[in-house]
Amino acid sequence: MSEPLPRQTIRELPDVLISQIAAGEVVERPASVVRELVDNAIDAGARQITLRLLGGGIRLISVEDDGCGIPSEELAVALKRHATSKIVSLQDLESVATMGFRGEALAAINSVSEMSLLSRIEGASSAFLLDGQTGEVKPAARATGTTVEVKELFFSTPARRHFLKSESTELAHCIEAVRRHALVRPEVSFAIWHEGKIVAQWRSHAGEAGWNQRLADVLGEEFVASSVNIDFRSGPVHVRGRAGTPDAARARADQQFAYVNGRFVRDKVITHGARSAYEDVLHGHRQPVYVLYLQMNPARVDVNVHPTKIEVRFRDSREVHQAMRHAIESALAVPRAQLLTTTSAPTQASTLAPTNNTWAQRGMAFGADRLHEDPARAMADLKALWSTPPQVEEESPAGFYSSKIQLQTATAVASQGEHEWPLGRAIAQLQGVYILAENTQGLVVVDMHAAHERIVYERLKQQLDTTQITSQPLLIPASFSATPQEIATAESCADVLMQLGLEVSTLSAKTLAVRAVPTSLAQGDCVELARSVLAELAQHDAATVVQRAQNEILATMACHGAVRANRKLSLDEMNALLRQMEATERSDQCNHGRPTWRQVGMRELDALFLRGR
Ligand SMILES: Nc1ncnc2c1ncn2[C@@H]1O[C@H](COP(=O)(O)OP(=O)(O)OP(=O)(O)O)[C@@H](O)[C@H]1O
Ligand SMILES: [Mg+2]
Repeated sequence: MSEPLPRQTIRELPDVLISQIAAGEVVERPASVVRELVDNAIDAGARQITLRLLGGGIRLISVEDDGCGIPSEELAVALKRHATSKIVSLQDLESVATMGFRGEALAAINSVSEMSLLSRIEGASSAFLLDGQTGEVKPAARATGTTVEVKELFFSTPARRHFLKSESTELAHCIEAVRRHALVRPEVSFAIWHEGKIVAQWRSHAGEAGWNQRLADVLGEEFVASSVNIDFRSGPVHVRGRAGTPDAARARADQQFAYVNGRFVRDKVITHGARSAYEDVLHGHRQPVYVLYLQMNPARVDVNVHPTKIEVRFRDSREVHQAMRHAIESALAVPRAQLLTTTSAPTQASTLAPTNNTWAQRGMAFGADRLHEDPARAMADLKALWSTPPQVEEESPAGFYSSKIQLQTATAVASQGEHEWPLGRAIAQLQGVYILAENTQGLVVVDMHAAHERIVYERLKQQLDTTQITSQPLLIPASFSATPQEIATAESCADVLMQLGLEVSTLSAKTLAVRAVPTSLAQGDCVELARSVLAELAQHDAATVVQRAQNEILATMACHGAVRANRKLSLDEMNALLRQMEATERSDQCNHGRPTWRQVGMRELDALFLRGR
């Protein structure tokens, strides 16, 4: 054991050291400086922001704006710690409307770099330049606005400098920092230069249409084409923006942008709310894409909880979670087929087509993707899935959907004219697996089982919304040693557990017993089941957990209830299925998140045959 250190006198730290300590939290890398300086430019009302970098931002970061500027006599104050023009009282702090409010950023950056401020206000005789090292102010030239130059970041704190990554990595982080700003400020133009070359430029756009244009500029046209508009109010929370369709999901969570009152945030409640909205339509571990802007009274969110302000704390996180979930869920529920008829003329084939537009990607339409990955296994899976005899009645636990859910005939469903059917008129069944239909854009290919499975599932969900999950008592209760957290949850959520068909009681201070489980899960490991449900209940609100559990059970039932392969369908039955798809929520994906239908446009068919038009 080492000797205790001899006691030292308590002393006040020098100012520079205090700033350097603060900088440790605020300035992690060049991108942090970029974020702070662009925040300041935006708070100053800039319409044009130009960023110039050298060496990935390590050698130089210069941010130039056309905002209101800083008067010469305030230049030196701007560099002081806790000096700000943005708030004056605690009341202001509780309803902050600006990006900055701590009056800390410039002081912190100045303590770990060589910094200068060049600024001019409207009506001044000239601009003034402040040297951050010496404090000297002298007249200089520039138009109204401010240029902040930050050279040799961490030159005085070599330990920090060693943590920096390669120049190209730091540059990428700097660009990402500006992208986050650009996505929420379409009215501001941005330009980024690196080593004298322009690396990104986004022009300003006005009005509502400007938002989509900016999203397309920053994230690509595909993002806008494969996402749906969101504009949803839930209590005090207003959610706007765009959420990608399940098709547009990615392997990584790199296109998830959430803003609270104009500030980019990374927040568990928001991410989880979004994730749960996709639960029912997204395949496996795919990550949804979205850019969402939450607006709420600033008093309902505390922005003063994290040094870089990237985290916030909501007064009522449940209301935020629900707003996110419902906003996305309701927008995604509308089947694409419905959008086709309401928003586009028949000639606009390109906007109607699913998001993946190349022929190879469209190979998906024929299930080819599954065959490419592992043909033997895919075929075996298919056969297994489809060879089960269609004894719907016997498999269904309650038999309650077997007779009710059948393919109604076309006449019963559609009174519209044939030419208006978004998914077209059925023309044939292919290999007992696909339905082929003809619509105004060309060919529609439908995965029969997948589509019907979704229809059955959505119908079951509607029927079961109020019904309980049936439960089966265990002959011998299964006891297990539980954590205090698990015991507390079991006691406080007994009602919810009952609703889920689970009965869990306390045996002792450290033991719980499972006495009943849902009938459909009676074969499984009931302790494991109870544990995972308790863990979920501890984390999320009860309604979400109940719904999720119900959905899982229903999905299993729907799979059994849906039409199997090799079942011959009449044209009437096929048309009926198409009409039901048009009317069923989330019918573009099967219950496992795979697409249920694809459009093959005339243009693509023509291209296949090298046919010019
Ligand atoms: N680009 C700019 N244009 C006009 N004024 C600026 C600019 N940058 C900084 N200022 C002024 O300097 C002050 C200090 O800036 P600084 O970034 O240190 O603090 P802040 O933005 O007020 O708070 P925070 O530390 O949360 O960013 C600001 O309050 C603002 O008045
Ligand atoms: Mg600031």
